[in-house]
Amino acid sequence: MSTTKLKRNQKRQMGQFLTPLPLASSIVDTIALAKNHKFLEPSMGDGSFIIPLIERFITLYSGSIEERLSRILSENIWGIELDKNLYENCLQNIRNRWGYMPSKHNLVHGDFFRTIFPTHFDFVVGNPPFGGSFDPSIEDALDAMFGVRNGEKIKKETYAFFIVKSTDLLKRGGSLAFICSDTFLTINTMRGLRSYLMHNGDIEIKRLPTFSDETTHPMVILRYTHRGVPGKVSVHSSPLSHESINKTGNLSFGLKQELEKYFSGSRMGDFFVATSGMTTGKNEYFVREIINGKIYEPYRFSFSEMPITLKTELEKARLGKLSDKLIWEIEDKEKTGATRRAVSIERLSTPREIAIPHKHYLPYNKANNSIIYNPPTHMIYWKDDGDAVLTYKKGGNWYLRGVGGQPYFMREGITWQLIASRMHMKYLPAGYILDSGAPCAFPREHVAKDEIYFALGWSLTRQCNRILKEVINHTKNIQGKDFERLPYPFWVSSADKKRIISIIKDLIRHAMKGNRYDYNNVEIGMLDSLFSFPADVEVPVSFVSQNEMMSLPF
Ligand SMILES: C[S@@+](CC[C@H](N)C(=O)[O-])C[C@H]1O[C@@H](n2cnc3c(N)ncnc32)[C@H](O)[C@@H]1O
Repeated sequence: MSTTKLKRNQKRQMGQFLTPLPLASSIVDTIALAKNHKFLEPSMGDGSFIIPLIERFITLYSGSIEERLSRILSENIWGIELDKNLYENCLQNIRNRWGYMPSKHNLVHGDFFRTIFPTHFDFVVGNPPFGGSFDPSIEDALDAMFGVRNGEKIKKETYAFFIVKSTDLLKRGGSLAFICSDTFLTINTMRGLRSYLMHNGDIEIKRLPTFSDETTHPMVILRYTHRGVPGKVSVHSSPLSHESINKTGNLSFGLKQELEKYFSGSRMGDFFVATSGMTTGKNEYFVREIINGKIYEPYRFSFSEMPITLKTELEKARLGKLSDKLIWEIEDKEKTGATRRAVSIERLSTPREIAIPHKHYLPYNKANNSIIYNPPTHMIYWKDDGDAVLTYKKGGNWYLRGVGGQPYFMREGITWQLIASRMHMKYLPAGYILDSGAPCAFPREHVAKDEIYFALGWSLTRQCNRILKEVINHTKNIQGKDFERLPYPFWVSSADKKRIISIIKDLIRHAMKGNRYDYNNVEIGMLDSLFSFPADVEVPVSFVSQNEMMSLPF
């Protein structure tokens, strides 16, 4: 591997995107300091926050620079850094700036998660690693320690665990100021973190217009004051009440006042169940692109029995570990010569040309950005109910074992692209095997089939996409659960609903005959007005804002 690539990998693994000094200074400058304050920088890099902190504290003391630095670095500032080079750079930066680095100080080369502190802090500042990795030998222990708060799951993501451990280290009334990824604002996997913070203190989040040249990832400044009781929430200078946040279903911090009314009725999840699909583990073996009504099969599949051994089972296990119980079971199987069914995949000298439809292949729902309907683009080898694919997955690494969406294979519903800037929604006819890149939604039992067309219409509107991308999940992913959390258009009259259903059915019919649609089509544009929220829909009192209340004529 090239040195540049190695460096890039280390950067990513350790989440090493250093804060430009002026930005860190501007954050430190907003804090009123006192001599008795204790600060922690839990991942100090080369000292972007440490340097301006010393700069500020130094003015509070008198005496020689050496005496002042010694006091500050043993009484006021604590810092940790995992990377030896960055740690040394930090000490060197202090030496360069003040011509001295005390021999006794609280700046430690080590892992924040392994560090025990002798004190609690008035302030924690910094920019914790985003998307970094944990030391595998303590990963599960960390999950046990920080993975659940107030009964809700905290996502095992470095910056989330950094936040939680840092709040544990704050004094009551102490504050945290972190530059961090904005991903925690809406996504459901960060719901637990939002819940934990809003139930334990005051939160203020502000967008950071620019961070540094090293990354374009959207960042925010999170300020949190630890009170041990539910507190105020302010996002991008707008206050957000707990009541409003609760309505979104995933405790979203992305809710805007004008979108609150949409969350006063049913959700799509009341009518649909959404699911992701599966990963085959290796599409090259099983998935074929359709070219002019044909596919080309380069492999032959056969089955055999393979001996079960502890060595191979451990190689395929998560973190290379298995429970004692499983180890005993496998050892037993190994002793008795037990075997596991395996699939052998042999390359043919010339691929076989196969006309479709064919009884051994089924359409595979690969994602693409078309809307309304698109004919299948891929087929999957599915002889004997997918025996080859399922056997391959069962014998593979631990993460391949599950078959995502299996109970929904072959059902009729709607589908979209998982990673997209908006919902590219289309009709999914019955008979498909589902791929993980294209989540799907299916009407719940007793829900009329026409709801498929109604939901398809709603999710193609601009407003629905705004709600999705601002409130439900502002990242690029559009998961099944995100779809289920969308408001169901309870405000649409039954006459309009009928019209919408008939329009969408027509569009699908035409698409099946070869028409292609995009967002510039008049019919698609019309959906926005058909789904608009009428002014006269009765909104429950709790949705009338304070200002509106005051202007009511009673
Ligand atoms: C986003 S950088 C920020 C560095 C510094 N706070 C700044 O603002 O410039 C995150 C830092 O966390 C360090 N880091 C990653 N995992 C760590 C851990 N478990 N304990 C301490 N530091 C860690 C990385 O090496 C990196 O220097």
